[in-house]
Amino acid sequence: MTDWQELERRCKSCTRCGLCENRHNVVFGVGDPNADIMFVGEGPGEQEDLQGKPFVGRAGQLLDDMLSIIDLDRKKNCYIANIVKCRPPQNRDPLEVEQDACIGYLHDQIALVQPKILVCLGRIAAMRLIRDDYRITREHGQWIEKDGIWMSAIYHPSALLRDVTKRPETFEDLLSIREKLKEICN
Ligand code: URA
Repeated sequence: MTDWQELERRCKSCTRCGLCENRHNVVFGVGDPNADIMFVGEGPGEQEDLQGKPFVGRAGQLLDDMLSIIDLDRKKNCYIANIVKCRPPQNRDPLEVEQDACIGYLHDQIALVQPKILVCLGRIAAMRLIRDDYRITREHGQWIEKDGIWMSAIYHPSALLRDVTKRPETFEDLLSIREKLKEICN
């Protein structure tokens, strides 16, 4: 199995899809490599591309606030990554071919972190990691165990910036994540 250094080196020099052509940085991932819980978004936006780190724009600030509600902190006890590591132009959804080209890096990250819980941030990550016909409006907050990992999805923080009426449901989902952590990680 690959190690972190080798994986990061391969990922950062990747030219497997067209997204490499306009990137400023590959956005590999951040956090505790031994975390019990991992969060996965869809792909870098403008700020992430410029800074080389996931979730550092407005949505990222909101994500950090959401994590702090349940005592999580990207610097201490969770790991954050994306389905695709390079920014799709105009923040469009990553194409299936782009996801296919990139997903191996995420699978390797998951194999190295070995999280007990994985939370998808938004529809794109949930459709890729949970089920390809996943319906975020209907199924967010529900848990399934897949390949030994407890998985769930919550609304993407960008969706919560656009539509504040989704926030109370997300608060409930966050509490459920905290319960799951207590239940299986103590
Ligand atoms: N949105 C994502 O899905 N990922 C990021 O890293 C930033 C915004």
